[in-house]
Amino acid sequence: MDHFLYKNGTLHAEDVPLTDIAAQVGTPFYVYSAATLTRHYHLFTEALSPLPHMVCFAIKSLSNVAVLKLLGDLGAGMDVVSGGEYRRARAAGVPGDRIVFSGVGKTREEMRLALTGGIRQFNVESEPELRALSEVATSLGLTAPITIRVNPDVDAKTHAKIATGKSENKFGIPIARAREVYAEAASLPGIEVIGVDVHIGSQLTDLAPFEAAYLKVADLTRQLRADGHNIRRLDLGGGLGIPYTRSNEAPPLPMDYGALIKRTVGDLGCEIEIEPGRLISGNAGLLVSSVIYVKNGEGRDFLILDAAMNDLVRPSMYDAHHDIVPVIEPAAATEAAVYDVVGPVCETGDTFAKARPVAPMAEGDLVAFRSAGAYGAVMASEYNTRPLVPEVLVKGDHFAVIRQRPSFDEILNRDTIPEWL
Ligand code: LLP
Repeated sequence: MDHFLYKNGTLHAEDVPLTDIAAQVGTPFYVYSAATLTRHYHLFTEALSPLPHMVCFAIKSLSNVAVLKLLGDLGAGMDVVSGGEYRRARAAGVPGDRIVFSGVGKTREEMRLALTGGIRQFNVESEPELRALSEVATSLGLTAPITIRVNPDVDAKTHAKIATGKSENKFGIPIARAREVYAEAASLPGIEVIGVDVHIGSQLTDLAPFEAAYLKVADLTRQLRADGHNIRRLDLGGGLGIPYTRSNEAPPLPMDYGALIKRTVGDLGCEIEIEPGRLISGNAGLLVSSVIYVKNGEGRDFLILDAAMNDLVRPSMYDAHHDIVPVIEPAAATEAAVYDVVGPVCETGDTFAKARPVAPMAEGDLVAFRSAGAYGAVMASEYNTRPLVPEVLVKGDHFAVIRQRPSFDEILNRDTIPEWL
């Protein structure tokens, strides 16, 4: 069920007209639907039941504390990749024993933060990290529960910048060397081996790479158990893709993904963790922007918006497609106009879409980018000294700003001029 629908000719987020939010907050802004976030989280818990499991939201996809509170209150765990994200999860009230710590470059300081604050497990990605964690844990008189992230050398068949499971990628330990590294882990003080972790990439639209990876994890689990390790938890990563267009895309559903998990690793008696980000947050959010100008160019018309690549970087960074729709529903017979949709940033790369059919637009009209909840606000920057976009959460007919647009004073006050200059 889509919670972003036209009602009485105006695009709504749940029961709130986007025009109301725009009038109060100004544009551009991100808006998220609580009902969609909730529904997507439950799709995964239903897909994994009755296996013992925890759905750990990959908060890198959308890390606003209000969103984390909403998901945390539903029982979600969190997958964090930095001390900053760990702090966000805790600020949202998520207990440490529901937080998993991923990432190739955890610092000793981040390890200390998580060990003292409470952690469900570290997903360790290298031998130097393993040794550092052992040192930090022993110095604190604590034990670090760990999985080791294995790199199964599987082609995720996704965009090269977000594929992580091939041997040439920086992630995990080559699966062929896993037994050796588990043996070292078991011998180190302050380390408790509890499971195996894998994550092969993002925006996967085919289940076959997951199947190949999970079968390898199942084999490894049996071997590790035979080697004497008490493997009781499997973290299977995130990565399930979402439809970015209304029409022709039909990526696998969480239910099919759950069935695949049961088929490949369900007989091992392990607790299953997954780390979905995009599927929970992606289609739960829009970026709403206004038209600054319609500019007639050479053989093309430019729709110049007040949102830019610094607000939503995915099109320029990954050539990603986002549907762009008018907030005021065009009359049924309206013929689309074709635009290059661009932002005001001084780079040609600041292009959201080329030759895109959209309803005819005029200055001041509002448009919405669909599927912008994941890797939208979190990847925004202040390039060109454009303030970070505010975020709004909608629940039924309520809405609230959950991150304010910073003032220019706040932005400028972060810079300091040294006395000696
Ligand atoms: N777990 C780990 C260890 C990850 O590295 C990621 C994503 C996830 C889980 C969540 O994956 P998801 O379910 O969201 O696909 N900025 C890019 C996507 C980067 C994904 C990085 N890792 C984009 O906008 O497409």
